[in-house]
Amino acid sequence: DWTPQHIVDELIESVRAQVGSGRVLLAISGGVDSSTLGLLLARAIGEQLTAVFIDHGLLRLGEREQVESALRPLGVNLVTVDASEQFLSALAGVSDPEQKRKIIGREFIRAFDREAEKYGPFEFLAQGTLYPDVIESAGGEGAANIKSHHNVGGLPEDLQYKLVEPFRYLFKDEVREVAALLGLPEAIRMRHPFPGPGLAIRILGEVTREKLDILQRVDDLFISGLREFGLYDQVWQALAVLTPIQSVGVMGDYRTYGYTAALRAVTSIDGMTAEFARLPYEFLETVSNRIVNQVHEINRVVYDVTSKPPATIEWE
Ligand code: XMP
Repeated sequence: DWTPQHIVDELIESVRAQVGSGRVLLAISGGVDSSTLGLLLARAIGEQLTAVFIDHGLLRLGEREQVESALRPLGVNLVTVDASEQFLSALAGVSDPEQKRKIIGREFIRAFDREAEKYGPFEFLAQGTLYPDVIESAGGEGAANIKSHHNVGGLPEDLQYKLVEPFRYLFKDEVREVAALLGLPEAIRMRHPFPGPGLAIRILGEVTREKLDILQRVDDLFISGLREFGLYDQVWQALAVLTPIQSVGVMGDYRTYGYTAALRAVTSIDGMTAEFARLPYEFLETVSNRIVNQVHEINRVVYDVTSKPPATIEWE
């Protein structure tokens, strides 16, 4: 029978059989799939693995440190790269959402190739492909296109490497069970989906370091508030958006002219359709107060009450 322990034993064996004494490269995104794969490969092949985490500067507050402190103590040979300068200068002046995605995808591959060069040569590239991904890309060109559009963190089929995809027969739930067994902290294991382009598609319009800094603080108050109120696991995804809207507010004796932040939380099965989460007003009030009190650039907070369709989950 398929207990998580059996799955892990089998996966370790099949990885060892496939790679032998070869060296394996893995891109860590900070999500559950690639993190779990890092842990599995560390168990299976130890130092033959080099895991590379490209910090594009578009992550949540403290995310890189969280991933490092989860994976390194468990033996993952992890290289982290601060590439925020590279990404931000490539994004300068760009406000079109698809353009941003393209640039981020391109810069990601550049940064990753650079590290591969530095630490290589590698015979294998590991990917956290799951069973539903396999089915989806077998489903014709349309489906494959949607996938590639969404998969900035994934690499194109790069023929210079042989692919190692031990999760290609697993579903997400099974990966989470494997993750638990391998010791991945719950905060990463049960994490909401997070898009490859990160906060860049949650800053409407041009991405700047200043705006990133504002959004990271807003997002952190929202997400940590959800955890504190026991609501995090009840929503499928939650996010904050920094809008370019500036409006008048009042603080003590002064008028302010600050940005509007939008909060969004949805329930969903697979992200294809979604409903806005009916978060309690008390929670929204608390978080809104925290945001306007602690993030001075923001003087107004709104909650997104549209479902998908017709809206999307992200705002860009
Ligand atoms: P939308 O906004 O299309 O989002 O309703 C559905 C799910 O996909 C995620 N998403 C992305 N993920 N790269 C990604 O890796 C992207 O460019 C991208 N755009 C949207 C979104 O966060 C949600 O979970």
